Amino acid sequence: MAAALYHPEAGYYARGIRQVGRGGDFFTSVSVGPLLGGLLARRFVREWSEAGKPARWRIVECGAHDGTLAADVLAELGRLSAAAFRALEYAIPEPLPVLRQAQGETLRPFADCVRHLADVNELAADPLPGIAFGNEVLDALPCHLIEWRDGQWCERSVALDEADGFTWRLMAINDPRLRAALEPLGSAFPEGYRSEARTGYHDFLAPLARSLSSGLMLWLDYGFERPEYYHPARREGTLRTFARHRAGDDPLRCPGELDITAHVDFTAVAEAAEALGWQQSALRSQGAWLTETARDWLLEMEGKPQAAALRQFKTLTHPAQLGRAFQALELRR
Ligand SMILES: C[S@@+](CC[C@H](N)C(=O)[O-])C[C@H]1O[C@@H](n2cnc3c(N)ncnc32)[C@H](O)[C@@H]1O
Repeated sequence: MAAALYHPEAGYYARGIRQVGRGGDFFTSVSVGPLLGGLLARRFVREWSEAGKPARWRIVECGAHDGTLAADVLAELGRLSAAAFRALEYAIPEPLPVLRQAQGETLRPFADCVRHLADVNELAADPLPGIAFGNEVLDALPCHLIEWRDGQWCERSVALDEADGFTWRLMAINDPRLRAALEPLGSAFPEGYRSEARTGYHDFLAPLARSLSSGLMLWLDYGFERPEYYHPARREGTLRTFARHRAGDDPLRCPGELDITAHVDFTAVAEAAEALGWQQSALRSQGAWLTETARDWLLEMEGKPQAAALRQFKTLTHPAQLGRAFQALELRR
C-alpha cells in the first residue's frame, strides 16, 4: 500500500493531482466547495483567541493535496481576523514534488504566510501553539491486512510471482508492532474473518506533536471506534480501492492507478496520541461537529440566507450525505 500510493514515481499520489473531484477518482468534503475551509477557519481563529492571541501561531495541514482546502481556510481566516492572519504560519508538509508544486501555485496569494516543507520534522526546532489537521489523511496511511485463522491472526501479505504477478500470501505475524496493535482486539472472531490494522499512527502523529507547543489536532475521516471496527459481523474489513468514482476491493489490480483506503480506528489514533501526551477531547460525527462549529455563521445568516453555502452545509452535515459516515476526532494538549 505504501509503494502503490507513495512511490516517488509510480505511486498513485505521485503521478498527478487530478484524483479528487468530479473528473477524478473520488470526492472529498473539500470537493463540496469552500464552506468546509471557511468553517475550519472560524474554529481555528477561536482557538487562537482562546489561547490568548499568541503573537506567533501555526496551522499544520497534512494531506493538503493541491492546496484547495488551505486556500479556503486562509481566505476566510483573513476576512475574520487580520491580527490572527498576521500572526499565522500555515505549514504544509508534502514529500511529493508534484503536489508541492500544485500547492505553491494555488497558494500564491498567501505566499507570505504559507511554509512548504518536504518533511514535517523541520518544524520541531521551533514549536508554536496551534493546530495540526487533515481531511481524509489517516485513511490513506498504509495498513496491514489481517485474517483470523485457527484461533490467531495471520497477515495477508503480497508476494510477487513470476507467472501470476502480485498474489496474496498468508503469513505468520512476526512484526512486534503489529502484534502489539492486534492485542486489544480480543479473540472472538469467526474463522476467515478479515480486517486491517495500522501500526503507523504513532509515527505519523509524533512529529506533529513536536511541532506544536500546545493546541489542537483535528482529523476528519471515515472510521469507527475499536468495538465497532472489529465487530464480528464486519467479516471483510473496510479496505477499498477507488478509480473513476467506482469502489473496488482488489488492491493488487493496477497498483499505482487506484486509490487504496481503509477506515480509521479512532481508538488506536487516540491511544497513539495519548502516548505522546495528547488527550482525546471529542469524537463526533462530522454533521454534529460542523453544526456546532457553524453556530455563529448560521446566526449571522439569519434573515439573509446564502443559498449556495447552505447547500454545501447540507451536503457536509446531512446524515445521508457526508454527515454521519465521517467523524471529527479532536486531540488536545
Ligand atoms: C484522500 S487524499 C485527501 C486530500 C485532501 N485532504 C482532500 O480532502 O481533498 C489523501 C492525501 O493524504 C496524503 N498523505 C498520505 N500520507 C501522508 C503523510 N504521512 N503526511 C502527509 N500527507 C499524507 C496523500 O498524499 C493525499 O494527498
